[in-house]
Amino acid sequence: MNAAGAPRHASHLVLGIETSCDDTSVAVLEDGRALRSHWIATQDLHQLYGGVVPELAARAHLELLPPLVERALADAGVTAAELTGVAVTRAPGLVGSLVVGVAFAKAYAYALGIPVVGVNHIEGHLHAATLEHGESPWPAVSLVVSGGHTELVLIHGVGRYQWLGSTRDDAAGEAFDKVAKRLGLPFPGGPAIESMAREGNPTAYSFPRPMLTEPSLDFSFSGLKTAVALAVDARGEPPYERRWTADVAASFQAAILDTLVAKTVRALSATGARALSLGGGVACNRALRARLEAECEGRGVALRVPSPRLCADNAAMVALVGGWLLERPATEEHLDAVASLEESGLTSS
Ligand code: KG4
Ligand code: ZN
Repeated sequence: MNAAGAPRHASHLVLGIETSCDDTSVAVLEDGRALRSHWIATQDLHQLYGGVVPELAARAHLELLPPLVERALADAGVTAAELTGVAVTRAPGLVGSLVVGVAFAKAYAYALGIPVVGVNHIEGHLHAATLEHGESPWPAVSLVVSGGHTELVLIHGVGRYQWLGSTRDDAAGEAFDKVAKRLGLPFPGGPAIESMAREGNPTAYSFPRPMLTEPSLDFSFSGLKTAVALAVDARGEPPYERRWTADVAASFQAAILDTLVAKTVRALSATGARALSLGGGVACNRALRARLEAECEGRGVALRVPSPRLCADNAAMVALVGGWLLERPATEEHLDAVASLEESGLTSS
């Protein structure tokens, strides 16, 4: 993507690098607003294994990153010498994958004589919507739902975060992926389940809505995943009839969305938030978006949903948060807020 017509002499041109999981992404962001270029190379090779293979992901980042940076600069119409800083995801994520990005970013910045800053991946997801929706009204609730995370965070402002709840076992995206695998659907499972669910009956199976009656804002999806696995086992060996697969997909999706929506609405009510931001690959799910849209409309809450490219793992959000940090180093409060997010279980990919 190239933001045509952007002024030639920007005061800040940040190169963002994201390699925390299986997407290699590079972005050039100008003055915290204009995305001059944004590339995401999805590592398709993991489809062969039905899930991300960490060793292969790290090796692929190593191969993809240098040409992707060249491409992003050319696409943005800037030279490396014009960059004013480098921002890179430092955690959480797959260690081997993170190391590739961080080592590259440090060496690149050192060679250019410009500063480099590490960004917390979840903090990136919290603010991704800002790239398209502008600054958020505060306080805002953010729901980050991906293959590695299911988190509800209250945002009082940039660098001021309060963890509200997270999954106690599987992440929402992981549940989508594992259920899809059991049903013989391709990886990643989320989009496959979503499209099958459109053909199915969401009330065909009454799967559990875990922790719905508990007052906490935590989630749990392993029981739901097991319930689906039992239904699949009872059906016998694959391949399964399309109609039946669609009913299971629709019933599973209804159960997981009921939980995500109910806890998010509870978080909005409990905090009096003025906005709701979504992030993470599961936020691409159109049924989830539609349900949250209806809930927000009824409550006068501004719903901020990034486009699919900015929901998934991407370097634009890293460049955005990194740009803020390069301009003004994190305060003690900011560092504590990010540390508390990491302590709250945000340690997987
Ligand atoms: O944020 P992301 O690209 O990468 C990380 O996991 O960090 O999220 C990928 C996850 C996968 O589990 C994928 O199945 C899920 O997001 N996903 C979806 C949809 N699109 C992607 N889940 C439900 N519905 C979708 N449309
Ligand atoms: Zn992510």
